Amino acid sequence: MAAEPDRHVGKVAVVTGGASGIGRGIADRFAAEGARVVVADRNATALAEVADALGDRAHAVPCDVTDEAQVDALVAEAADRFGRLDVMVNNAGIIQISPVVETAYADWQRMFDVNVHGVFLGSRAAARRMIAQGNGGVIVNASSGAGRRGVPNIAHYCATKAAIIMLSQSLAVELAPHGIRVNCYAPGHIQTPFWKDIADGFAAVTGQTPDQVIDAFKSTVPMGRFGTPGDVAAAVSWLATDDAAYVSGQAIAMNGAEFPF
Ligand SMILES: NC(=O)c1ccc[n+]([C@@H]2O[C@H](COP(=O)([O-])OP(=O)(O)OC[C@H]3O[C@@H](n4cnc5c(N)ncnc54)[C@H](O)[C@@H]3O)[C@@H](O)[C@H]2O)c1
Repeated sequence: MAAEPDRHVGKVAVVTGGASGIGRGIADRFAAEGARVVVADRNATALAEVADALGDRAHAVPCDVTDEAQVDALVAEAADRFGRLDVMVNNAGIIQISPVVETAYADWQRMFDVNVHGVFLGSRAAARRMIAQGNGGVIVNASSGAGRRGVPNIAHYCATKAAIIMLSQSLAVELAPHGIRVNCYAPGHIQTPFWKDIADGFAAVTGQTPDQVIDAFKSTVPMGRFGTPGDVAAAVSWLATDDAAYVSGQAIAMNGAEFPF
């Protein structure tokens, strides 16, 4: 769906992991639809390029979402800069391809630090701000189709993305009295730089070439193609509108009709 230029005028959105892939697509979409966007990422160089491309509507904040103080400061800076916070998109995430028996405990913990603890910190900081503002808000968190089914060689990733669904459902119930809606997106295969790590990692484990890995994943998608960051961003943007006023606690898939729905 094409961007609707006036859809988010007057709103302020924060997008973590906004320097690449899906996060960048979400930041682009919110800016194109009139929001002021605070883009956060641990990759300061890529972040500066994205903020430049977005222009006056955007503000870049280098931030590691695993650092409690940095995440609290991110939300405070967004509100200081643009006056309020309406939408928090906890998008930053990592993946690693590793059979369970070869997975170091430190790698397991790192996966949870970024993919789960980072979302907790971002949700908590946003909820505190939104409750103080007193007129509701929207939180959207990054899950995955891999949070709904087991996938070999990424057990730790799957576990983090399942945790995000339950974290988001629990937040939705707890924050509903404050008018704060919490949902997550559960994409299938979306073409982003993430897939370089996935293709290389599965190739190392399976003996396929990276191209064969990509073709194998593509062959599981009934629509026959990978999704785009824009496919995810369109749904996230909708979740932040009043058209989604009665939608909370959901994990919304965009996956080309791939199982699980
Ligand atoms: N691409 C897919 O097929 C797919 C599918 C399902 C879910 N997802 C989820 O969508 C989200 C975005 O994925 P993507 O494909 O755009 O990945 P990506 O690698 O293109 O972008 C991720 C961004 O997050 C940033 N990041 C990583 N760790 C961070 C940290 N600790 N603090 C701050 N920023 C950090 C990276 O620097 C990068 O800019 C992730 O949570 C991912 O798990 C992706």
